[in-house]
Amino acid sequence: MAASIIDGRAIADAIRGEVRQASDRLTSTRGITPGLAFILVGENPASQAYVRMKGKGCEEAGFYSVTERLHESVSEGEVLRMIDRFNLDPRIHGILVQLPLPPHIREARVIRAIDFKKDVDGFHPVNVGRLVIGRPCLRPCTPLGIQELLIRSGIETAGRHVVVIGRSNIVGKPVANLLLQKGKGANAVVTVVHSAAGDLSRFTLQADILIAAMGRARFVTAGMVKEGAAVIDVGINRISDPTAKSGYRIVGDVDYDGVCPKAGHITPVPGGVGPMTIAMLLGNTLSAAAGTLYDD
Ligand code: GUN
Repeated sequence: MAASIIDGRAIADAIRGEVRQASDRLTSTRGITPGLAFILVGENPASQAYVRMKGKGCEEAGFYSVTERLHESVSEGEVLRMIDRFNLDPRIHGILVQLPLPPHIREARVIRAIDFKKDVDGFHPVNVGRLVIGRPCLRPCTPLGIQELLIRSGIETAGRHVVVIGRSNIVGKPVANLLLQKGKGANAVVTVVHSAAGDLSRFTLQADILIAAMGRARFVTAGMVKEGAAVIDVGINRISDPTAKSGYRIVGDVDYDGVCPKAGHITPVPGGVGPMTIAMLLGNTLSAAAGTLYDD
């Protein structure tokens, strides 16, 4: 039997509608319009495309947004000064510095400079720490999107075994921490595996929910997946495709055609996790604007 396909675009659209409504309410009741600032350094085409899509998402949600594009050669000091300016700007509730940064700019230093209450990526050490200890905080968008896909697809996580492939700070580690917490859409038993684990099948075959986030095209094959498992594909990999106009095609970390007949649920690429990331970014910006997360 073929897997049920999780339609990330439809779920993301529903969330964006809800965010728009909540944002309009925030504006009419408290006079606040959520505002998001983007900082993009250099000319990386993927980063440019992501920032453009996120900016469009803001526009559709009725948010105020600004995008600052900086030359590849900009100094770390200039980036830090720009962050400071946004930290102090009352129209701005979220600051997103698109990663990766050029090698002469220290990513950790830049992330730490963002006011953690405006850290809509959830990458600041205060937010990372609060996520780990289970306190309310801004949390990373892709992990939140994965959790929301599971909730809205009716996939139970409590007491089930989630195996995460990949240990990045953007996806692997935070999604493991998120699904491990007590509460709705969580309470899972979580295993994180990575490149040093050797034969991954020993672990992945035990997964009720398998999250592939290691950035290797079509790495997860049918032989690695338990019958009926939910397979969440976070990968966005460019592979050459002479039949495509652009000469390339985007595929995930999962061999979709091979895994589909075996899985219970599966997310396609594109149209799975990707659209959710932007929807959750808008949700985070709305939360930051409402200012209710850090009461303690
Ligand atoms: N680069 C790749 N993913 C992300 C993300 O979620 N946030 C930021 N700021 N940069 C990224």
